[in-house]
Amino acid sequence: MNMERKRKVCMFKMVVSSSAKMSKSGGSGGATTKDNAVVSSVINPWTGMPYSQSYYEILEKRKTLPVWQQKDEFLKALKANQCIILVGETGSGKTTQIPQFVLESVNAETPDGKRMMIACTQPRRVAAMSVSRRVAEEMDVKIGEEVGYTIRFEDCSSTSKTLLKYLTDGMLLREAMADPLLERYKVIILDEAHERTLATDVLFGLLKKVLRNRPDLKLVVMSATLEAEKFQGYFSGAYCMKVPGRLHPVEILYSEEPEKNYVEATIRTVVQIHMFEGPGDVLVFLTGEEEIEDVCRKIDKEIAKLGDQSGPVKVLPLYSTLPPAVQQKIFEPVSSGRKIVVSTNIAETSLTIDGIVYVIDPGFSKQKVYSPRGCVESLLVSPISKASACQRAGRAGRTRPGKCFRLYTEKSFHNHLEAQTCPEILRSNLANTVLTLKKLGIDDLVHFDLMDPPAPETVMRALEVLYSLGALDDEGNLTKLGEIMSEFPLDPQMSKMLIFSPGFHCSNEILSICSMLSVPNCFLRPREARKAADEAKAKFGHMDGDHITLLNVYHTYKKNDEDPVWCCQNFVNEKALKAADNVRQQLAQIMARFNLKLCSTDFKSGDYYINIRKALLAGYFMQVAHLESNTGHYSTVKDNQVVHLHPSSCLDHKPEWIVYHEYVLTSRNFIRTVTNICGDWLAEIMIALEKSGKKLGYGGLTLKDRKQTT
Ligand code: CDP
Ligand code: MG
Repeated sequence: MNMERKRKVCMFKMVVSSSAKMSKSGGSGGATTKDNAVVSSVINPWTGMPYSQSYYEILEKRKTLPVWQQKDEFLKALKANQCIILVGETGSGKTTQIPQFVLESVNAETPDGKRMMIACTQPRRVAAMSVSRRVAEEMDVKIGEEVGYTIRFEDCSSTSKTLLKYLTDGMLLREAMADPLLERYKVIILDEAHERTLATDVLFGLLKKVLRNRPDLKLVVMSATLEAEKFQGYFSGAYCMKVPGRLHPVEILYSEEPEKNYVEATIRTVVQIHMFEGPGDVLVFLTGEEEIEDVCRKIDKEIAKLGDQSGPVKVLPLYSTLPPAVQQKIFEPVSSGRKIVVSTNIAETSLTIDGIVYVIDPGFSKQKVYSPRGCVESLLVSPISKASACQRAGRAGRTRPGKCFRLYTEKSFHNHLEAQTCPEILRSNLANTVLTLKKLGIDDLVHFDLMDPPAPETVMRALEVLYSLGALDDEGNLTKLGEIMSEFPLDPQMSKMLIFSPGFHCSNEILSICSMLSVPNCFLRPREARKAADEAKAKFGHMDGDHITLLNVYHTYKKNDEDPVWCCQNFVNEKALKAADNVRQQLAQIMARFNLKLCSTDFKSGDYYINIRKALLAGYFMQVAHLESNTGHYSTVKDNQVVHLHPSSCLDHKPEWIVYHEYVLTSRNFIRTVTNICGDWLAEIMIALEKSGKKLGYGGLTLKDRKQTT
């Protein structure tokens, strides 16, 4: 039996990573430097309270992080340069320590005692939340006070108190809309720059301009990979600093044959590691929430089958929509046995989990892809890049020598994986970005200095969409409507639908629908109770379609929000509903700012649902599909693509015309979240939009014109 299993283990081919290196482990080097008065005094200068015991305990750990050895060098460089690029291995302490060094340093110098504020961006919401909590703990302050975070629809910071704010890159971009020179900040840290998210790339361009106008502002760009030369070329004259890694050697083992099913191969490999490898925690990279939860359950089941002799395990999922308290569990050491973390890409560089010795890398992640022709953006499970594979392997060598099991062949690694992940800006729908840039006063998009400029076709597409929506006028300038649209943290179509909803007497309802569309899927469908879950969902179903079904769920939830078991009984994700409620409040505040009134049609009126469906069309008139009577298929009005109703739709018939919320590219072209509309409304709405649009200061386009331009 054991022999059989051993043979399977040997299916992996071993290659000792040439990039793995061993360097001295960090001592408490820079910890006792003279400018360290803040941490060695008994009173916490940020709160005026004595430090707690746990502060000192964490401090000892912090001092062993590699960045502490270069604290002096970093602070000297910060004084002498306006822009610094800091490159360091994941886990060297960049995200948690550098902002604290900066905070101490800039606040030590203020003669009038006025405290200076620092921003540190993160591409991921989870990282912003989790890291700021950790840093608040390290500084012995309460989260939301001196240290806070801001992510879309959630602000855990205080205007008067917060000095160090972690925020998503997208949120800093939004702040720039109201404060173009970002005057509230003294230092801005762009973290995880190697991820090259859309918002980070736009911030690069923006900050390059801001730095010229604000000689007192400093910028620190932090990255985990050695693309520093590219950054340095872009931010000409920036000071570049490298934090030597503390990586132990990592053995790379490849599958000998391509795996048919990477999920099964993953589970098999976890079990084999648990049976035949020495102690040490395991980190598994998978692509999304559902897959992760499924694999966690299967691992538990397989390991339970092994009986007691194999030792206990703790299997923990990690993905972005997990509640913070559950996320925190992955950082806690397990008292006995082995920890197995099954994570999305978050654990690749954003979050460092200590104690990982084994990494399983199936070679995939969910990535955004964009086709400018159909203006379609989709999340697809795609092969990762070589750079990502190396980052993943590196997670195994943090504490001691480790092993990385790549569930693909060595040949495949060399021949099929791209060197780097393509920057997000080159694979995104840019409508929202262009709207933000216009609002920021950047009209000349062609000459806006981006590290990797997108294809002109993609920019043209974005301009076209914004023009059709009435956000831009004939000259390409932002209209009054465009200005209001840019204030909503939503896609332009959704902002437009919301802004026009009072005109259709249903802004209350549209507001609820927008909120439900802005949070994760609210329908739970556990594998063991699929039938019951589907029956529960069917009770909310509305014959007109999924948008109204979502509205039904929200309304029923609000009626029952005192009932602690309602969500569970109805297979509704309570977390998602609570989030939707919060989103709704925030969107309502923005609406109030622009005097957009909240109103409803009388529920008894025959127009109640008609008005809602017309309002949907006001924003999403470009996302309409028509049932072709000869083929029985839907095809999109905009570009005649054949599409299929997503199986999750509650529609039990095929209406002639439907409006859809999103286009999902998987094995087939699906449209998801669809609602029945009336073909005549299209023309009617075009005329109405044109009329009201004129009042709001734009020309507008008729459907006919629009068809000719596309
Ligand atoms: O940014 P970088 O990857 O260089 O490192 P970091 O995120 O600052 O992490 C430094 C250390 O803090 C690691 O040893 C993490 O395990 C630890 N950490 C933690 O214990 N809890 C968190 N919520 C975040 C980080
Ligand atoms: Mg980091």
